[in-house]
Amino acid sequence: MITGKYPSLRLRRSRKNDWSRRLIEENNLTSSDFILPIFLIDGKNKKQSIKSMPDVYRYTLDRIFPIIDKAIKDRIPMIALFPHTEKKKKNALGTEALNEDNLVCKAIHLIKKKYKNQIGIMCDVALDPYTSHGHDGLVNNGYVLNDETIKVLINQSLLQAQMGCDVLAPSDMMDGRIGEIRKSLDKNGYKMTQILSYAVKYASSFYGPFRDAVGSKNLLKGNKKNYQMDFKNSNEALREVALDIKEGADMIMVKPGLPYLDIIKLVKENFKIPVIAYQVSGEYSILSNSIKNGFVDENIVLESLISLKRSGANAIVSYYADRLNKILK
Ligand code: PBG
Repeated sequence: MITGKYPSLRLRRSRKNDWSRRLIEENNLTSSDFILPIFLIDGKNKKQSIKSMPDVYRYTLDRIFPIIDKAIKDRIPMIALFPHTEKKKKNALGTEALNEDNLVCKAIHLIKKKYKNQIGIMCDVALDPYTSHGHDGLVNNGYVLNDETIKVLINQSLLQAQMGCDVLAPSDMMDGRIGEIRKSLDKNGYKMTQILSYAVKYASSFYGPFRDAVGSKNLLKGNKKNYQMDFKNSNEALREVALDIKEGADMIMVKPGLPYLDIIKLVKENFKIPVIAYQVSGEYSILSNSIKNGFVDENIVLESLISLKRSGANAIVSYYADRLNKILK
């Protein structure tokens, strides 16, 4: 129960000094709370900037090691790999997803060989980096086919697991894919490969800069509303999570982050499962560009990140994760 009465009770008493504020703080962040996304490109010795995301780059495979060295030194538990696929490798079926020499597969292989289990590797399971129409699955008359897409996602998952991926993160929003992927992983000897389900993924304009980063922005036909969630809903989020837990998800993603703190809290309170918040590209872009323009100070980054933690997230996917020393103090 919350009791007390002014003037015998003054909440400002405990806020007066820094030591006292620190003494009673309820939430905090450490580097273990972060997942670092890395964008990959083909070629050699390239570090390419992304217009809408200041200080975020795409790297060729020969340039990723210093970033991973630093992530390990900073004690970041996991990286997330995202490929920028050349247009000529994209087609309507996204077949490049199943090429064992694709960028992501090569990256997983290289990273695992060099770093073993010093850091976790997470990879999206979805076809959008590889399709000529920018959708996450196979399309028929503008509609993304569910069961046909799952068949491809199973193979994409198996391939990534085979390469050494630790955490498969289906971000496609097909119904029933977690169960099917889990089943085929188990059957093929990948019982210990984890699944982080993007169970609660809203159809959001906050993904704009990401699509730019992976090169699907100008290709995307229409929107993703026939598979990603309607941002007017929250009960539906709980149904998605309930299904995915039953199907074998180890962790649950809520995405985007900042506009969906209520959802993070709901999921955590109802299911007691590890919840990961994705501070997505649009959030990053808004924060970083506002700071760059001098409209707000850089503490908005920590404030936003703490709000994700306070609402119940166990960890956060954040494009700031390579600069934590600065942000966390
Ligand atoms: C692809 C995927 C998206 C993001 C992560 N995986 C974009 C989308 O669904 O269109 C967005 C990440 C971000 O905006 O930072 N399935």
